[in-house]
Amino acid sequence: MPILTGSARIAGIIGWPVAHSRSPRLHGFWLERHAIDGAYIPLPIRPENFAIAVRGLAAAGFAGANVTIPHKRAAFDVCDSTDDAARRAGAVNTLVFRDGRITGSNTDGWGFLANLRAHGVNPASGPALLLGAGGGARAIAAALQSEGVTITIANRTRQRADELAHHLPGLRVIDWSRRSHAVADNALIVNATPLGMAAHPTLQLDLSRAASGVAVCDIVYVPLETPLLADARARGLRAVEGLGMLLHQAVPGFRAWFGVQPDVDDTLRQFVAADLIAA
Ligand SMILES: NC(=O)c1ccc[n+]([C@@H]2O[C@H](COP(=O)([O-])OP(=O)(O)OC[C@H]3O[C@@H](n4cnc5c(N)ncnc54)[C@H](OP(=O)(O)O)[C@@H]3O)[C@@H](O)[C@H]2O)c1
Repeated sequence: MPILTGSARIAGIIGWPVAHSRSPRLHGFWLERHAIDGAYIPLPIRPENFAIAVRGLAAAGFAGANVTIPHKRAAFDVCDSTDDAARRAGAVNTLVFRDGRITGSNTDGWGFLANLRAHGVNPASGPALLLGAGGGARAIAAALQSEGVTITIANRTRQRADELAHHLPGLRVIDWSRRSHAVADNALIVNATPLGMAAHPTLQLDLSRAASGVAVCDIVYVPLETPLLADARARGLRAVEGLGMLLHQAVPGFRAWFGVQPDVDDTLRQFVAADLIAA
């Protein structure tokens, strides 16, 4: 831990709980790499204290904060202004405190697109099948729509997918039971449910009808190689792991708080992945 000066920039991640978060490790890596006079700390804040805590952090001179479960919607309400991505996702994951104002953005969708591109996948190469309608799926749907992608969405609870389609007109909703039938019609397949995550059931999805060249992306990153990604690779499809989304979504916040545009490279990936493998 470096010795901070009196002008150190401080940011952190607000969650409840927050001990599982890899964001302090990720931002800590960049702070050290760029020898920045600053710190990024875990901020465990109960839901009932969220708004007062955020205003307190801003008043205490913090540069800003990331926001994770369960606060992303509450973060939207505490902001003085939000960007288009946050409004379309209905959630905020990055807060910037400047000149007495709280600005909110949602960088999950941006991180998702940047990760696809880093894997050589053009997000706009064709229609997408998106599984899930939770926070991650909302941000991804909004980002893909902004690239002009036609999206079919399947969620276990149909009503939640219908609500998302109401919020983001143009989404096509199918029943969860029809998800494997939709595989053949899409160039990009995205799992935005926790299925396949350690201690969760495996996602049942028949990839045998996927056309060659299809990209399969899992936003789950524990384990790094989910059963879905392993299946995609075994079939010769392109597999895009979820850890890259986590790494890329952190870039805009770091730049805003610490004034440096950090790189997402393999050294960073290995540093964060080592912690996931050790867990
Ligand atoms: N890589 C990244 O940067 C990143 C970013 C965000 C999230 N994630 C990961 O993505 C996953 C989802 O996160 P989230 O924040 O979107 O969660 P969330 O808001 O709680 O949404 C969960 C979604 O998964 C569905 N789901 C949950 N259990 C299911 C099951 N057993 N069968 C079928 N569907 C199920 C839910 O469907 P219902 O509506 O029916 O409940 C809902 O659509 C988590 O594993 C999270 O760690 C990764």
